[in-house]
Amino acid sequence: MTITAQGPQTGHAASIEFREKERQFHLGNSRVSYVMRVFENGALGHLYLGRALASGRSYRHLGPASFDGFSNRLGAPIPLECPTPGSGDFRIPALVVEHPDGSTVLDLRYGDHRILVGKPAIRGLPSTYVEADDEAATLEVDLRDAPSGTTVTLSYTIFRDLPVIARSMRVRNEGEKAIRAHVAMSASVDLPDADWQFVHLSGSWARERHIHARQLEPGRQSISSPRGSSGHQHNPFLLLRRATATEEHGEAIGFSLVYSGNFLVETEVEPYGTARVRLGVDPETFSWSIDPGAEFATPEAVVVYSEGGLDALSDAYHRLYRERLARGRWRDRDRPVLLNNWEGTYFDFTEDRLLAMASVARELGMELFVLDDGWFGQRDDDRSSLGDWFADRRKLPGGIDGLARKIEGIGLRFGLWIEPEMISERSDLFAAHPDWAIGIPGRPRSEGRQQLVLDMSRAEVRDHLFEVLSEVLAGAPISYVKWDMNRYITEPYSLSLPPERQGEFFHRYVLGVYDLYGRLTARFPDILFESCAGGGGRFDPGLLAFAPQGWTSDDTDAVERLKIQWGTSLAYPLSSMGAHVSAVPNHQVGRVTPLATRAAVAFFGVLGYELDPTALPAEERRDVAEQVAFYKRHRALLQRGRFVRLLGPFDGDGNRTAWMVVSRDATQAIVAAYQVLNRPAQGIERVRPRGLDPAISYQVSGWPAGEEVDTGESSAIRGGDDLMATGLLLGAAGRDGAPQRDFQAWLFVLEAVPEG
Ligand code: DGJ
Repeated sequence: MTITAQGPQTGHAASIEFREKERQFHLGNSRVSYVMRVFENGALGHLYLGRALASGRSYRHLGPASFDGFSNRLGAPIPLECPTPGSGDFRIPALVVEHPDGSTVLDLRYGDHRILVGKPAIRGLPSTYVEADDEAATLEVDLRDAPSGTTVTLSYTIFRDLPVIARSMRVRNEGEKAIRAHVAMSASVDLPDADWQFVHLSGSWARERHIHARQLEPGRQSISSPRGSSGHQHNPFLLLRRATATEEHGEAIGFSLVYSGNFLVETEVEPYGTARVRLGVDPETFSWSIDPGAEFATPEAVVVYSEGGLDALSDAYHRLYRERLARGRWRDRDRPVLLNNWEGTYFDFTEDRLLAMASVARELGMELFVLDDGWFGQRDDDRSSLGDWFADRRKLPGGIDGLARKIEGIGLRFGLWIEPEMISERSDLFAAHPDWAIGIPGRPRSEGRQQLVLDMSRAEVRDHLFEVLSEVLAGAPISYVKWDMNRYITEPYSLSLPPERQGEFFHRYVLGVYDLYGRLTARFPDILFESCAGGGGRFDPGLLAFAPQGWTSDDTDAVERLKIQWGTSLAYPLSSMGAHVSAVPNHQVGRVTPLATRAAVAFFGVLGYELDPTALPAEERRDVAEQVAFYKRHRALLQRGRFVRLLGPFDGDGNRTAWMVVSRDATQAIVAAYQVLNRPAQGIERVRPRGLDPAISYQVSGWPAGEEVDTGESSAIRGGDDLMATGLLLGAAGRDGAPQRDFQAWLFVLEAVPEG
């Protein structure tokens, strides 16, 4: 039996084929195949993940000739879809369940399956979706452990137009007593060889998502978060790449978890040289009690296969996450250019000062004014008032409504910062509900940034937040919300959970965050939400489902941002990356970079400014006005075009970076190159764009307007073939006279010249 999801215009198809004879499932489209088989003992075995294979064939030879269980070959690396411990598979398990008698063995055997068009949602959790049933097909396979009545449903969706398999798992207790899940992974994939590099995104506050790579080695390698959020340190994303893979060529597989809390991504290579990858909720900080008749659903894992290098892999993630994970009215709309007052004023502002900043922002062409931290309670520094979501009338005599109306009167939309999940000990909320702050009775609570965290697992806490925040958002013309989260969770414990359910706390916290996000975004569908967590401490696919853009990092230094934005782009689209131009010396690293370079970096994301524009000299105001106009003119391309990485800040000495965006029809592109330090006698360097149409003639102009391009003119016409073969010259001194300096940026706008 085969179910095919076929696109009306493209003719592309995703199919799921079941071959009765071998009990083989084959999910495939033109770019990827995923093949499984029910082995002789009923276990669901893995046969293949890779480039597209023909349907209508048996791939049984890719697995063991037959498999009846581990009894006679303990430890052999049998590839399984849902490995469990204690019966011969000694590698990292996908599922560990403790039965009422304390034992943990599961003997999962095929029970049933369903092939569906489209893609069902996961209750309570964000996930990728389809808008029409023909965009994807889904296979659900039920596996059953007869002695305990534990039933596992593995779900696999193949998308029609992308090399993507989305996986998740549900565990149902059909027994008579409660069972407890200790490990419940979203996906486990067995690969036949271990010749891969383990590439991940790591860092810290102000240095998020740098690329780190190492070879897979025998044993386990992992990244994880136990912090309550996905964290600055590691991102829930793993890229396996062949050592020979480049941006343009070669094999790579991405594993991304649609989740915002504690996670684990782990690989294990065993002595036979095979590799297992698993990803899901972090088992170290998790357990979940499943009552008879109840079910536990994991978050979704999104697996992307590419044989066209990292470029094609990232493009698949970008398209999927921009178009079928992000949702709501702002998903496809041009995002406004904003001014955020944080670095311009920090906590020290008055209404007059904000209005003066907004007036200049308006003159410079910006569209949205965002009032950051410090507007509520009595918050003059970070020691008080979180939870008291009412305006500080000392600073804002007319309240938020008064300010927002004046900002709108100036001609800008108004946006507001909130940090819903937090509570200060010095706040009215804490005085009224000290028990709402997370902590363990009888033990001190650790503070982080002088604040505590609200127990988002509790319905009454969420209801309260929904009510007070709805009042704020409905009480003024608010077009944008920045939802921050400035500390991790310590002393994890919920007063609302019995002792045997405390292991559920972290996951329930995340479900609570999703619940509140879901309710607020549904109640205020016209508001653009931007997620934030002390910069990029929760920049993950889970929140993208609610907030289509996120604050990429508190670090706004142009040089640091090259690495941060480059790394982030492995999995996340430009439309998701908030990118601001800030003042110099830079507040995070003290570096002084040219204004044009700061803009040329921030253009590749959702542009904003984070400075006091009243302090800009006249010449810089003119430059900013020109930058904003340039960005608005090219915003559709910069926010939704295809992003292509050309020259990496993690390669070589990292002194040069280059990237570009190109429209899907290749008629427009913007290419940017940056150098960190100027060096003597560098010679002539060119950067070669990709993804252009060789047959198109492009008008090439330098930015800012009048900046010379490689012919020595400020504009030239060149063929796509010529550009891709020979590249754009990075104004070498002595050649066209363009001066070079430290922290320089080159920007080229390529526009197809109409034929004839
Ligand atoms: C951390 C954020 O990343 C900043 O942009 C700013 O909003 C501060 N919090 C405010 O406290």
